[in-house]
Amino acid sequence: MSNFFGADYYPEHWPRERWETDAKLMRELGLDLVRMGEFAWARFEPRKGEFDFKWMDSAIQLLAEQGVKTVLGTPTAAPPAWIIEETPEILPVNDSGVTLGFGGRHHACQSNAVYRGHAARLVTAMAEHYKDNEHVIGWQIDNELGNSHGNLCMCGSCEKAFQDWLRVKYKTIGRLNEEWGTAFWSQTYDAFHQIPAPKITPNGHNPSLLLDWKRFCSDLIVDFQQRQIDIIRKIAPCQFITHNCMGFADKVNYYDLGKNLDFVSHDQYNLVFWDETLTCPPGSDSVARTSVALDVTRGFKDKPFWIMEQQAGPTGWQTLGHTPRPGQLRLWTAQSVARGADTVVFFRWRTCAFGTEQYWHGVLPHSGVPGRRYAELKKAVAELRPLMAHFCGTKTQSSVGIVYSYDQNWALTIQPHHPQLNYIGQLMKYHLYFHENNIPVDFVSPDADFSSYKLIVAPLQYLMTPELERKIEAYVSKGGHIILTMRTGVKNGNNVCMSHRELPGSLGDLLKIEILDYDCLRGEDVKIGLPDGSTASAGKWCDIITLKGAKALARYESGYYKGEACATSNAFGGGAAYYIGCEPDK
Ligand code: GLA
Ligand code: ZN
Repeated sequence: MSNFFGADYYPEHWPRERWETDAKLMRELGLDLVRMGEFAWARFEPRKGEFDFKWMDSAIQLLAEQGVKTVLGTPTAAPPAWIIEETPEILPVNDSGVTLGFGGRHHACQSNAVYRGHAARLVTAMAEHYKDNEHVIGWQIDNELGNSHGNLCMCGSCEKAFQDWLRVKYKTIGRLNEEWGTAFWSQTYDAFHQIPAPKITPNGHNPSLLLDWKRFCSDLIVDFQQRQIDIIRKIAPCQFITHNCMGFADKVNYYDLGKNLDFVSHDQYNLVFWDETLTCPPGSDSVARTSVALDVTRGFKDKPFWIMEQQAGPTGWQTLGHTPRPGQLRLWTAQSVARGADTVVFFRWRTCAFGTEQYWHGVLPHSGVPGRRYAELKKAVAELRPLMAHFCGTKTQSSVGIVYSYDQNWALTIQPHHPQLNYIGQLMKYHLYFHENNIPVDFVSPDADFSSYKLIVAPLQYLMTPELERKIEAYVSKGGHIILTMRTGVKNGNNVCMSHRELPGSLGDLLKIEILDYDCLRGEDVKIGLPDGSTASAGKWCDIITLKGAKALARYESGYYKGEACATSNAFGGGAAYYIGCEPDK
């Protein structure tokens, strides 16, 4: 695997006469890669089946003359107006049943066979045209799959695909009724074709339906990407394939999406214009938020990755975020390299003068004249290039793993319990502790092998399966240490509460505790006392723990459960299992 520094470049936004200047400025900065083309469908195929690659060929050539290689994006995120005019049935439908219009991007339904046909025609033509171009080293499929998809498309085609997906999973409608508990509110189905996509209803949907919908949508996106992978692998087997993921974005399971990619890429926006404090723990700054996003990305394939878009200036559409302070671009780039990025591509080369992203600033300002950011990145690239070459292909060794599960996140998004309880926020909170203490951490899939970690932190293991229980138990008995938290072992895999024994279900044997009572904290915190006499506080939730052999590590000091245990430990086999029954402060 090789490593690069690059920029996201849009030659179609600037006159042809400027391209050479750009290529030269890139070389002078120290860049040797561009990603191009990922929104240029209208230029590549101005009319159905009529392809124009000449303009892109000459951009690729000009750049190559300055030593800059190309990654091409398949522009399927932006079907042009003529496609929508000809086949309006590909437009997506939202959860109110309203068809969304042309004018942004991602305005197509991913299950729609007609849209898939358009995409296949374009991607085949692109792969055929570029398969032997020595300057084109790889492909990015689409762009940020799942972004701008809201609750995802709920058109007739998607609803039908959902029903087919359910038929494969449950086999018979009787089984589905049983698993989902459709006896509630007379929701019993006679046949799969009666099952709706979760459009808005007068009251909330069945949580089991909602969870399967999220799983289905993720599978659909993975399948959509796979069609393009199949085409490119067949025609251009020597060029790599990646996709630009978005850290903790949750529309698609990135472990699944990454499976058939050569490596995953990440789009890193460290200071954004929206309010990140909604999910990020108090006290986390842009450095902490960057490190958590990089660690999670490395976990998608458990290997080095690329940054396909690294913030290179102030971000903004209608409103703007902070301008990166002197030194910040260098800092974020260094962080990426240190945490496993083999390539960093800056978004974008030059700030665009028109369109939605006029204020999403690039390395160069609108004027195209190199300024402070250009100079800073030039220094940073020169300084980091030898380090990146040294680290290329390697990854950090961590003895701590934090479990990141899409299923848990989806289930807790459907029923967050406390209005501010957020699964990702919990993960970040635990991560922040290790970050502040300079302890390297991996994020691991629940399907990963835990055995190389001394400590596994697994917050909110809300959905529990017998397999996961056995896995956790085996890990601890062989010497592992695990931290489990509140709302563990509550539901089965189909999002139905388990009722065969007290919480936390069968894990009670490992933890040696039982939870007979709990309290959702609305607008108040509960004091906690620690053995050394110090105090802390718990927010959002309190499990009132009955000790069944475990040791209390901390106890509540207020509320009607004053004196009861709120955190416990239990030695088990060669290891130990810890339980934290609340959301403690730092
Ligand atoms: C995302 C996209 C880019 C661009 C930037 C800025 O990361 O991948 O195309 O839209 O955000 O908004
Ligand atoms: Zn659809």
